[in-house]
Amino acid sequence: MNYRSLGRSGLKVSALSLGFWVTYGSQVGFETAKSCMMAAYEHGVNFFDNAEVYAGKGAEEVMGKIIADMDRSKLVISSKLYWPMSDDPNDRGLSRKHIMESVEGSLKRLGTDYLDMYFCHRYDDETPLEETVRAMDDLVHQGKVLYWGTSEWRAGQISNAYNIANQWGLYRPQVEQPQYNMFHRHRVENELAPNARDLGYGMVVWSPLASGILTGKYNDGIPAGSRMGLEDMQWLRKYITQEKLDKVKLLAEVAGDLGCTTAQLSIAWLLRLPEVSSVITGASRAEQVHENMKALEVVPKLTPDVLERIEKILQNDPNAEE
Ligand SMILES: NC(=O)c1ccc[n+]([C@@H]2O[C@H](COP(=O)([O-])OP(=O)(O)OC[C@H]3O[C@@H](n4cnc5c(N)ncnc54)[C@H](OP(=O)(O)O)[C@@H]3O)[C@@H](O)[C@H]2O)c1
Repeated sequence: MNYRSLGRSGLKVSALSLGFWVTYGSQVGFETAKSCMMAAYEHGVNFFDNAEVYAGKGAEEVMGKIIADMDRSKLVISSKLYWPMSDDPNDRGLSRKHIMESVEGSLKRLGTDYLDMYFCHRYDDETPLEETVRAMDDLVHQGKVLYWGTSEWRAGQISNAYNIANQWGLYRPQVEQPQYNMFHRHRVENELAPNARDLGYGMVVWSPLASGILTGKYNDGIPAGSRMGLEDMQWLRKYITQEKLDKVKLLAEVAGDLGCTTAQLSIAWLLRLPEVSSVITGASRAEQVHENMKALEVVPKLTPDVLERIEKILQNDPNAEE
């Protein structure tokens, strides 16, 4: 495993990490979840991503049970808040009340005294930003959170949070969690990476395989046991388009020439950006973890020629001249 700094902080995160969305606490049972997490840990993964909303708090409970037997200091554990957790108007968003109450629930379910990272899962238009920044700063002072961050915030919103923190001497957001994969790259490459360089935060990026499309598993329909086959995940199917499938088939040829799988190529490609501190992978079985972790071996094979070949296939380089 390689470890990267979380922006200009002292925290080191594994270049590849494992997230708990969709899968653990719902799609697969406890033993499978545990085997995936342990497989990742054995590959050197230290960062495991979670959120209170995943499996309606169930994913945090699963992680709590698994890490109960592990050395907490070796783990970088995150959670997130924002999405409504009930009909109560205060059980959502980034108000001081919800932040202070949510963190207690997450700590309890995870069975830990502190979160290494705590994310504002989206921007909250209904709460003054200063209220959120101050509440997060308080959590850091209380020792319940070590680093706080944002997810799917615009660069301007992160900059505003920085300015508030600087003005009042508060802890600044240290990490952003955006979606980033070969089909979804514009915001990370054009907007967030320059902002991250300026302000010194790190990016930990999600859905590196576009929910599995980049593995090639959807090239001939929806296989049984896959994410898109899940009853409550059917909304994702609109992201499978013929154009993407055609590109995946061409990417498979590049992968074949490099002696790797399309999944490994897709994950490795994200690590070419130094502003990416960690790529958060997902897996419904341990074999997928083993396959995905080998993406690290592909990173040195991404020579300028290979990168150019990939750009010709993707045709979506945000920096390409018109
Ligand atoms: N901040 C946010 O708003 C946000 C949003 C989404 C995700 N996330 C985070 O990012 C993490 C990763 O996102 P993601 O799960 O969408 O990642 P992904 O890599 O795009 O998709 C992972 C899924 O693809 C399939 N897969 C993975 N490796 C495979 C392989 N080698 N061969 C075949 N199939 C494979 C598995 O699903 P099946 O086997 O079921 O098909 C797996 O669960 C999440 O767990 C979460 O922590 C954050």
